[in-house]
Amino acid sequence: APAPAAAHVEALLASYADFPQPGIMFRDLNPVFADAAAFRAIIDDLADQHRGQFDAVAGIEARGFLLAAAVGYAANAAVLAVRKGGKLPGTVLTEEYNLEYGSARLELEVGQLPAGTRVLILDDVLATGGTIAATTRLIERAGYTLTGVGVVLELIDLHGRERLGTAPVHAIVSI
Ligand code: PRP
Repeated sequence: APAPAAAHVEALLASYADFPQPGIMFRDLNPVFADAAAFRAIIDDLADQHRGQFDAVAGIEARGFLLAAAVGYAANAAVLAVRKGGKLPGTVLTEEYNLEYGSARLELEVGQLPAGTRVLILDDVLATGGTIAATTRLIERAGYTLTGVGVVLELIDLHGRERLGTAPVHAIVSI
């Protein structure tokens, strides 16, 4: 039997063909977030898989924020917000990346945590891997140590995992 978190995700995941454009199968995890037991299960799973391995969580805008806030609280860890381009003030690091549809920029403010801080990257979906790969570069350029990646859903046909580095990647569900 699948782990409780995976069972919740498999039961509640919604899929929408041709959204936001033709040819894209959009995976909607909002029904998972909207179910209290399912949300608790995925947060506990993400925290448990990397327990003791991180001092901070980096959540990727927008849905990664939901995960990072809760995992950070549960694990007593610091929270970093990795934002889309143009949202952050002051000195920021910028990385360009390609999405399954379109391209974009991600940014991280510098100097928030000490060099060497162990960071767990969190996002809802690993698709092509461009988003998490860009975030990995931001974390490393900021002087932090990437110790893990956690996602709720991995789309294995897009081979995103192959674009990431050596840090352990945990997906609650891979389809
Ligand atoms: C989605 C998803 C991941 C990313 C995964 O975010 O939440 O962050 O795409 O795709 P990739 O592995 O191919 O890079 P999106 O860019 O739609 O942003 P949003 O969460 O702000 O809507």
